[in-house]
Amino acid sequence: MAHSITLGLVMLGLLSAPVHAAETDPASGLIIAEGWETVRNNCTACHSAKLVTQNSGSRQHWLSLIRWMQDKQGLWPFDPKTETVILDYLSSEYGAKAETRRPALLAEQLPDNPLRKPAAKPAQ
Ligand code: HEC
Repeated sequence: MAHSITLGLVMLGLLSAPVHAAETDPASGLIIAEGWETVRNNCTACHSAKLVTQNSGSRQHWLSLIRWMQDKQGLWPFDPKTETVILDYLSSEYGAKAETRRPALLAEQLPDNPLRKPAAKPAQ
């Protein structure tokens, strides 16, 4: 009995372990990968790095956030090389998640299935 509970907990632990356990910087929480220091140096002056690590999206998404902060929030301009490093890092380490893809179509939005047999007529 006690064994099966332990085994169950062990299995749960294994199942919920992240597939890709990335190393993170303890101070900022940023994933340590190429360009992370550039991101830390440029993206944590005004707000917590949590705002970065809790966000995710395509390169276009990140670029639009950067442009918005530059237009409205006083973010300084980046030289093209720095901007590329930042966007490479953000779009690969905090890229679009699978679950942010378009949700499945509802059944009534699907095209007719030509193989489906006509429904039996209800008895009158
Ligand atoms: C000059 C100040 C400043 C810097 C530097 C800055 N930001 Fe921001 N950022 C802001 C402000 C202000 C907000 C809005 C904060 C809020 O809503 O509390 C914000 C919000 C955000 C958000 C949340 C957007 C949303 O959808 O709510 C993200 C993500 C973000 N910043 C990422 C970054 C990244 C990545 C960098 C580095 C490239 C960066 N920030 C650098 C000022 C800055």
